[in-house]
Amino acid sequence: MHHPRDRLIVALDLPSVEAAEALVDRLGDAVTFYKIGYQLAFAGGLALAEKLIWNGRQVFLDLKLHDIAYTVEMAAASVARMGATFLSVHGYPQTMKAAVDGRGDSNLRIVAVTVLTSYDDTDLAAAGYDFTVAELVAERAAQARDIGVDGLVCSGEEVETLRAMVGQSMVLVTPGIRPFGAAAADQKRVKTPFEAITAGADYIVVGRPVVEATDPRTAAEAIIAEIAAAAGADML
Ligand code: C5P
Repeated sequence: MHHPRDRLIVALDLPSVEAAEALVDRLGDAVTFYKIGYQLAFAGGLALAEKLIWNGRQVFLDLKLHDIAYTVEMAAASVARMGATFLSVHGYPQTMKAAVDGRGDSNLRIVAVTVLTSYDDTDLAAAGYDFTVAELVAERAAQARDIGVDGLVCSGEEVETLRAMVGQSMVLVTPGIRPFGAAAADQKRVKTPFEAITAGADYIVVGRPVVEATDPRTAAEAIIAEIAAAAGADML
């Protein structure tokens, strides 16, 4: 496994490249992995992603792709050429297969979102699905594994079940993390970094607890220490 530091992915959920670069500067060499989502991607964040990669950082492009297979395949190929480490796609079989084809033998790894955590059983029914969230998560995780997708984005509550299901063959990336004592904000089912890593997460994604901290670097270092403690506990 990687150094505990490389298992923390800081979500750059910020409105501008200037704000994101200021945070990256403050975090310095404490943080090696960044996630760029819709908000920043559509405000110059893709150029920032290239710059971060050029500076030796790893980047997770959280663009949750879903389109016809050809479009997804070409998009994944472009992202692979950028040198990104992770790209997220929605967990539809055609989309997942196209993304895996598009990343080819590059270093890009495709991570699938099974069911968005903002969806409950009622939301799925409203969207026309005759599955519970738990059933659809399990079904799509099995499809992802069989297609050769590299990883899954999953909540702290799902990690243990999914790890048991896919074994060590896939990376599990877990958002919704709140260090001990941090405000949960709008995340309802939160885990601490220690809990998520102990449950089997390979990477944790943390946004506001770092981005909004008075001292982001100290906040990030405290999270990395929790990851290290959990990783150490794993090896006992
Ligand atoms: O600020 P916070 O730590 O809640 O940020 C979590 C990040 O992970 C956000 O960028 C959010 O979009 C993302 N995410 C999430 N829950 C998911 C998938 C992604 O919170 N199920």
